[in-house]
Amino acid sequence: MVQKRKLKLKSSARKPLIIVSAVILVIIIIVCFYFNRVGELKSLGYSETAANSIIFKFKYSYIMGLPFNKTLNAAFESDDYIENNLDNYAKIDYEEQEHLITNINKLLDKGYSNNEVSLIISRGDDESVSEFVKRDKVKYIEEFLAVDYAKLENYDRYLAYKEKENDDAETTVLYVNMDFDKEDYVDPLVIDEFDDYVLVNKHRQLSSEYVPDDLVTIDDEYVKADGEIEIERNVAKAFYDMAEAAAEDGMELMVSSGYRSYEDQEEITNTYLELYGQNYVDNYVAKPGFSEHQTAMSLDIASKTVDTFVNSDEYVWMMDNAYKYGFILRYPKSKEDITGYKCEAWHYRYVGKEIAEYIHENNITYDEYYVMFLDN
Ligand code: DAL
Ligand code: ZN
Repeated sequence: MVQKRKLKLKSSARKPLIIVSAVILVIIIIVCFYFNRVGELKSLGYSETAANSIIFKFKYSYIMGLPFNKTLNAAFESDDYIENNLDNYAKIDYEEQEHLITNINKLLDKGYSNNEVSLIISRGDDESVSEFVKRDKVKYIEEFLAVDYAKLENYDRYLAYKEKENDDAETTVLYVNMDFDKEDYVDPLVIDEFDDYVLVNKHRQLSSEYVPDDLVTIDDEYVKADGEIEIERNVAKAFYDMAEAAAEDGMELMVSSGYRSYEDQEEITNTYLELYGQNYVDNYVAKPGFSEHQTAMSLDIASKTVDTFVNSDEYVWMMDNAYKYGFILRYPKSKEDITGYKCEAWHYRYVGKEIAEYIHENNITYDEYYVMFLDN
């Protein structure tokens, strides 16, 4: 008879098996723990790369104690992460910039505060910030760059302007962004992007070839000039609405000028130069390429009955009502220093109702509005 024998491991053979099992168990626990933490970090908003980096750098508890922070996410994704800057990263505003963390490190190293670093990176793009970090620490960062529409690339011009004019930071930024530190017509910006909000003035030029693409002809009944007047389609519509409303109040609005090509403006400049001389032209006529009329967004308004517009009831009506139809008096009396032109009671720019209302209520020019809200 075959005897059954129980297979029994000796206790000396069981020990390694227990150790291996224990090790495997520990590994499983660690892996689960690790994936659990990665999952938690990801559900907070951190990327896979940042989550891994946070765990390997033993910053899980630190990070979990804070709300999700995009700058921290970028820092943990970056090869340039510096542990000593961790608290700073958490307090610096995020910007979508390729060298964000490298540049933050350099700025902190130069002694800028977290707030200054946030301002510097928010007022420039990756390129201008990367240039800026190469220079020694500068002053007035919090003054100049706290202005919403300040531009990092203009920093030196702000400083030079402030030292010369001693204006407050906001005025300095506004005026420099309007190019008031440059002579009229010197080193102008050549506009290469066109939309209905385009700003043209003595510092911003249109190319001689620029012709707006949606021109329509103003109805004859509204034309007070020899020949046809063209204007941008939406401006024409707004003008008709305005003229009809004015008519209900007994006003007879007409148009004496609309779109003018580069060549038209050249001709006008030469005519006025011969008639009234350079001083008049400097005050009332834009050089070719610098006239808002080339944008087809401006109209010279006339009264059907009174030849000098400023003396007409239509002018008074326009002062009270033009903004309701999206038009602004572009060169007002009180703003000659800003627009660079003497008051033109007849010249209205179409900017749409919302902007026109803001400009009317706040008594500012389109040059200022553009710099404050549209120039980015
Ligand atoms: N009269 C305005 C400034 C122009 O010539 O465009
Ligand atoms: Zn005009």
